[in-house]
Amino acid sequence: MTSNSIDSLLHESRRFAPSDAFSAASEASRDLYTSAKEDRIEFWADKAREYVHWHKPFTETLDWSTPPFAKWFADGELNVAYNCLDRHVLAGNGDRTAIHWEGEPGDSRSITYAELTAEVKRAANAMAALGVGQGDVVAIYMPLVPEAVIAMLATVRLGAAHSVVFGGFSAESLRSRIDDASAKLVVTADGGWRKGKVFPLKAAVDAALANGESSVTNVLVVKRGDNDVEWTEGRDLWWHDQIEAAEPEHEAQGFPAENPLFVLYTSGTTGKPKGILHTSGGYLTQAAFTHKNVFDLKPETDVYWCTADVGWITGHTYVTYGPLANGATQVLYEGTPDTPNQGRWWEIIQKFGVSIFYTAPTAIRSFMKAGRQIPEQYDLSSIRVLGSVGEPINPEAWIWYRDVIGAGNTPIVDTWWQTETGAIMVSALPGLTTLKPGSAQVPIPGIKIDILGEDGTRVDPPNGGLLVVSEPWPAMLRGIWGDPERFKETYWSKFPNLDAPKYFAGDGAHVDEDGDIWLLGRVDDVMNISGHRLSTTEIESALVSNHIVAEAAVVGAADEATGQAVVAFVILKSNQEHAQTAAEASALLRLHVAKEIGAIARPREIFIVSELPKTRSGKIMRRLLQDVAEGREIGDTTTLADTTVMQIISDKLK
Ligand code: PRX
Repeated sequence: MTSNSIDSLLHESRRFAPSDAFSAASEASRDLYTSAKEDRIEFWADKAREYVHWHKPFTETLDWSTPPFAKWFADGELNVAYNCLDRHVLAGNGDRTAIHWEGEPGDSRSITYAELTAEVKRAANAMAALGVGQGDVVAIYMPLVPEAVIAMLATVRLGAAHSVVFGGFSAESLRSRIDDASAKLVVTADGGWRKGKVFPLKAAVDAALANGESSVTNVLVVKRGDNDVEWTEGRDLWWHDQIEAAEPEHEAQGFPAENPLFVLYTSGTTGKPKGILHTSGGYLTQAAFTHKNVFDLKPETDVYWCTADVGWITGHTYVTYGPLANGATQVLYEGTPDTPNQGRWWEIIQKFGVSIFYTAPTAIRSFMKAGRQIPEQYDLSSIRVLGSVGEPINPEAWIWYRDVIGAGNTPIVDTWWQTETGAIMVSALPGLTTLKPGSAQVPIPGIKIDILGEDGTRVDPPNGGLLVVSEPWPAMLRGIWGDPERFKETYWSKFPNLDAPKYFAGDGAHVDEDGDIWLLGRVDDVMNISGHRLSTTEIESALVSNHIVAEAAVVGAADEATGQAVVAFVILKSNQEHAQTAAEASALLRLHVAKEIGAIARPREIFIVSELPKTRSGKIMRRLLQDVAEGREIGDTTTLADTTVMQIISDKLK
């Protein structure tokens, strides 16, 4: 390993070419790569015209005159909700099912494009009556019910932007997101179903809006859990009452291509979560283009299912915007994969005849653990394309996915992208690419990716380096909400000396001799837990916010089920050292983190220690803690301020 590169030890030689039949019927053709290569900008302009209906056509494609602030299709106007709804009805596809929704307790509901359009129109009118319009932000804190999608579309139909907050996040996380974006309206539900029980949501909204001034004037509450809720008169309104009272007709108006579409908060290396801002025209273009070509979507016949919650970027782009812009029929499932039994997902695939299935490696690994005898009880023969997203998929999980879920012959697309990239950036195209288990493979047409060393020079195969996006792309983030400096600093400052700014994604990768990309994981202090990004800093802050904690360090340790797991090292305040046992302190702190951030951030283990390893400049050496957390021999400690610290820690933990 040279200092300029990251080592990669994996060698995987299995190859899977698409079948002739699949290739012959493929939506994507090689021309996509050729035309994108000839003129990347013109390629995207073409795609924008092909995939999006413009209220007012654009005449300029990309404005990159003030990097890193890009504008795509800036003088064009569109309505994103119209693109996802009305135009399909007008084209005669109103009777096509848009959503087959399945509730966790077994209730279900199928909604056609005509019905979805009608509901969104009413919801838009209801929101407009509450004062929502262009420039406003609507916070959405919901279980995975159709109203979550309806609320997103109604918001953007009015030219407002949404901020969806994952329903598993705590009241505290919700509060900070509402405040950061000055949300005007919150759409929530009384509760949702999860693991056979109703979990309250409205109560968390109440807590988030308690004490202090808030920008929120109303809370719209969908009835779902039927659990008791507290009511603030004048502020809280039942969704169904407002929808019923709303006018049915609503004409979609065009908004500028760069009108904000949504803010979605994601963890960064330092400080509070970043509100990633996406806008309309470029985002929708890349969402629809990738959804169609990466999944080989045939909207007339396919039944598509992406298992992500709308609280994550995958749920934005590949549940709401991509599939609906393409007029697809999709499944939406409220609950967990193992409720009421471990075959629930396979039962849903069988019930609706799902043909395209998109999920995360963490889920695949947990199914592997439970055993192939479970999926084998179901008829999964409708499946013809499988997708993976969220973290690198290890080759064994890939092979299991193909063999057991995909009958040994289904193409798998491993899609690399991020909240910030907005849409898929690296992936095979299933009718064209010879697949390699474990590799995300090639940039999609129109996307320019490079792997650079620390010094900004390109690293040669088979060495690894840092993955950068070298040219602006349509669905790129347009900034961090309210913080342009942080936007520049976080993503564009890694290689300041190159002639053009490059987006640094935070991931390591290497390219093999064929030009295929292999992702090597994050190179910063961000962990990937079950395909979700969590920052070490945020969890450390949550720990330190507890009165018993003096100092905390968090690392991501390899975990069979979740990819990485949170492991924390905590120094207690001196007056607390004897107040409880280490086991009591760690139980209390695990609960505390779940309350502050959400259950997803709860540490798998907390070690109570008396010292933390620091460099002379005071930076915690997480690498060494990771060695402890993963039960490895401790690495090089020579740069520590006090080289005996690691000995003290390991002695204490013995
Ligand atoms: O580290 C990469 C990993 O997930 C990060 C992005 O996380 P988030 O913004 O939450 O979006 C997840 C869903 C798009 C990336 O920086 N990641 C995502 N997909 C892959 C991946 N790592 C390897 N292979 C992938 N296919």
